[in-house]
Parts: sequence; structure tokens; C-alpha cells
Amino acid sequence: MQTGYTVEQLRSAATDAIRAPSLHNVQPWRFRLRDGGIEVLVDPTRQLPATDPSGWGARVACGAALFNLRLALATAGAPATVRLRPDPAKPDVLARLLPDLPRRPTPAEQNLHAAIPRRFSNRAPFWPDPVPADARWRFGAAARTEHCWLKLLIGVSAVNAFAEIAHGAHRVLERDPAYRAEREAWVRAEHASDGIPAAAGGPLAEPQDLLPSRGFGGVRRAPGRDFEPEPLVGVLGSAGNTAVDQVVAGQALQRMLLTATDAGLSVSMLSQPIEVPSARERLRMSLGRFGTPQMVMRIGYGQPGGPAPRRPLDEVLDLPVHLA
Ligand SMILES: Cc1cc2nc3c(=O)[nH]c(=O)nc-3n(C[C@H](O)[C@H](O)[C@H](O)COP(=O)(O)O)c2cc1C
Repeated sequence: MQTGYTVEQLRSAATDAIRAPSLHNVQPWRFRLRDGGIEVLVDPTRQLPATDPSGWGARVACGAALFNLRLALATAGAPATVRLRPDPAKPDVLARLLPDLPRRPTPAEQNLHAAIPRRFSNRAPFWPDPVPADARWRFGAAARTEHCWLKLLIGVSAVNAFAEIAHGAHRVLERDPAYRAEREAWVRAEHASDGIPAAAGGPLAEPQDLLPSRGFGGVRRAPGRDFEPEPLVGVLGSAGNTAVDQVVAGQALQRMLLTATDAGLSVSMLSQPIEVPSARERLRMSLGRFGTPQMVMRIGYGQPGGPAPRRPLDEVLDLPVHLA
């Protein structure tokens, strides 16, 4: 059995890890080798002070990156055992991966791994075609496999009730000038290696929209290209809301996003009702679930699009000088 991971394995797996989603595409992660293990660290300098004061979003993003890392190592035949927050004295170290017994990747792992470069946040209107039952089932299974739950909102009244909570949260956030300034600062008109390209921000909000969009986009939609009238909305939740729960939720989120991509579906995320504590509590109560909602997703058949840029790999790797 391999006693430790190599720099080459770290580089190759981290190339996939950085394709994970993150709030405003801040990419709040770092990766390093320590005693033969790969460590995933949250980068406190990339936490959004106004939008993400608790660090929830940064930890969910790092959890998603960790899922990609696990998948990349498994498909390379070097799967990992993972310890979350292995050292209480170092809360920034969110996970340590050590080599497990080598084995062949499963077809499911290979399919999810192949979906990593194809996944992107699709904020445009989806086609009205319903999401098939087997794909819905696969989403729930993806969440459960990663120790989380998924509630799909069924029926107009459930979606309307959610929309009211989401709009309320959106209004609360929009009242904060620091929050608005942060969002504006992370929308990129020119090419950049982080932030949200204006072209990927989705269309300008209009009064008839059922769900609040975050306001990254600046393009007026073509006439008749409204959002789908009955969106499929899914709420992903975890058992609790500790830092570990949030990393767990990030892994479940990424497994769900890749499952959707593999099924030919698109997803956009809406986290306003997660970020406002009173809205998050209302959402939890409306679902009748124990545990904590961690992310809301709109799922459907989308137009083609592409991933947002990422920072160069070397910016997020901590390597000993002689190996860098
Ligand atoms: C914790 C978290 C919260 C997010 N919240 C939103 C959101 O409210 N609205 C939105 O449009 N995208 C949201 N996103 C998606 C990010 O903006 C997106 O992942 C990032 O811009 C990178 O783009 P990509 O997903 O296309 O790779 C969120 C992502 C994460 C991880």
C-alpha cells in the first residue's frame, strides 16, 4: 500500500478540486502535503466579510472541493480515507486525506469524475421540461450517500412558500450596503481568474420572476425567455450546523451537482435564505425537517454554457520550496 501521497498526485487531484463552486467564485481553499497526507485548508483571506461573516460559505465550498479531491484520487486508483477537522488546535485545516487500500474506481466514480469539468452554475432560464423521476431519485441518493438530506419541493404551493422566504431574505441582504458593495466588487466585466464573469451572471431580474436572483447579471433577457414557470427546487440539509456539518454539506452538494451534470441537467444555487438566520429557520420549519438547510438549488434542463475561470493551481498549493 502507498504510504503517502506524492506532489504529482496532489497537483493532479487539486486540478479537479479547484473546479468546485464557491460563493462569488472566491475560491477560498488551499491544499498542501503534510506527512504523506493531503490537507484541505480554508483560506481566511478569501472569506467574504459582509456576505459570509460566519464562514459557512467558505466551508461549504471547501467541502465541495474536498469531494472533487476524493473523486480524483479514487479514479486515479489511490482512494483516500478522510478525517474532517483532524486537529482541534488548527480549525483552518478542514480535512486530511490519507491513502487507503488501492482499488479500481467504480463506474459511478468515473462518471462523476468526468462531469467535473462540465459542471457550471447555470443562472439562465431552463426549458420547461420536467426533471424525470429517476434523476430526482438519484439526487436524493447522492445527498444520503454523503450523510445529508435533500427535500425537493413538490407542487406550486410549496414552491410559492419557498419563493416568499427567499424574496424576504433577498430584501434583508440587499438593505446592507457592505453586502451590495461586495457583490459588485466580485462581478467581473473583464477576464479575471476569480469572481463571476458578467456574462455568467444570468439575466437582469424582472418583476414577474418567481425566485430572486442574486443580481450578478446585467443583460436584459430576450422577449419570451422568462424563467421556467414551475422550477424544480431542492433544499440540501445536514444533521447539524457545526463547521464539520458544513464541510459534509459541501461534499453532498458537489456529489449532487455532479450527479445532475452526469444526467444532462443544469443547476443554479440560491443561498440568500441560508444566509439570513431567520429565513433559514423559516425554511427549516416549512420543510418539517430536523437538521439545518445548507443550500437551495434550482434544477432543470439548461442552455449550454461554460465554467467560470479559476485561479492558477500554484496560487492554492502550499508546497515546500524545493518542490514548488
Ligand atoms: C456556498 C455557496 C453559495 C452560493 N450562492 C449562490 C447564489 O446565491 N446565487 C448564485 O447565483 N450562485 C451561488 N453560488 C454559485 C457560485 O456563484 C459559483 O459556484 C461560482 O461563481 C463559480 O462558478 P461555477 O459554479 O460556474 O463554477 C454559490 C456557491 C456556493 C458554494
